Amino acid sequence: MIEELNKKLDILELEKIKEILPDYIHSTSKKIPTVTEMLNYLISEEIKSKDSKAAEGIIKSANFPFRKTIDDYDFSFQPSVSENQLRELGNLGFIENHENIIFVGNPGTGKTHLAVSLGIEAAKHRNSVYFITCHNLMQKLNKAQKENRLDKQLQHLAQYKLLIIDEIGYLPVDHQGSNLFFQLIARRYMTKSTIVTTNMPFSRWGEVFSDNTLASAVLDRLLHYSYIIRITGNSYRIKDKIVESDSRTNKYNE
Ligand SMILES: Nc1ncnc2c1ncn2[C@@H]1O[C@H](COP(=O)(O)OP(=O)(O)O)[C@@H](O)[C@H]1O
Ligand SMILES: [Mg+2]
Repeated sequence: MIEELNKKLDILELEKIKEILPDYIHSTSKKIPTVTEMLNYLISEEIKSKDSKAAEGIIKSANFPFRKTIDDYDFSFQPSVSENQLRELGNLGFIENHENIIFVGNPGTGKTHLAVSLGIEAAKHRNSVYFITCHNLMQKLNKAQKENRLDKQLQHLAQYKLLIIDEIGYLPVDHQGSNLFFQLIARRYMTKSTIVTTNMPFSRWGEVFSDNTLASAVLDRLLHYSYIIRITGNSYRIKDKIVESDSRTNKYNE
C-alpha cells in the first residue's frame, strides 16, 4: 500500500509529503487526527518545502555578492539607519507598490548589505530578483547594443520584480551608457521596484552620468515613488581599526 502511495506522490512531485509520511503515520498511531487535520498538515509541509526550494533557486540566480540578512546588520553601529524602517521595508510592501529604495552613503556603511538583505527577503517570497553593479550593468547594456539585441536585454532586465543596481557613482558612465541606463529606469518606472546604492549625493549625479539632463531624467523617475535612506556614520569595514587606534591613543594617554 505505502509503495503504491509513494509512486503516486512521485507522479505529483509531492516530495516532502513522501519524505515525512512514514514518521507522520508512526506519530499519529496513538492519537489519530481528523482527515482535515491530516491533509492540512501534510499539504502545509509540502508548500513550505516548495516555497523554500523556489526561494533557494531565485537566490542562486540573483547574483548576490554575499548572503546577509537584516538580522545580520548591527543597527547600533549605524544609528542613522532606522531599524523600524528597514524591518517595515522587509515586509515588501514597496515591491507591491512598485516603489524604489535609494541607499546613499560613504563606502563601508552597509548599503550593499541592506540592499542584499531586502533582495533575499524578496526572493524568500518568490519575487524575481537580480543584483548587478552599475559598472557591470553598463557593460551588459553596451554589449547588447553592439550586438543588436538591446531591446531584448532591456526587456529582460525590466521584468524582474526587484532589480538592485549597486555602486552608482564609483565609476563615471559615458553619454551613451547614460542613455541606456535611462531607458532601463524608464521601463521599470511605476511598474517594478528598483533598489540603488550610491556614494554620490544627487547633486553630483550630473558628473556621474556625464550629462545633467539625463541625470535629472533618471533621478526624476527613480525618486518619484521612493524611500531615500541616507547613512551618515562610519565605515563598518574599518571599525576594528578605529577601535584599535582609539585604544592605542588611550594607552598613549595613560
Ligand atoms: N552596521 C553593520 N552591521 C553589520 N555588518 C555591517 C554593517 N555595515 C556594514 N557591514 C558589513 O561590512 C561590509 C561592508 O558593507 P557594505 O554593505 O559592502 O558597504 P557599502 O556597500 O556601503 O560600501 C559587509 O561585509 C557588511 O556586511
Ligand atoms: Mg557596496
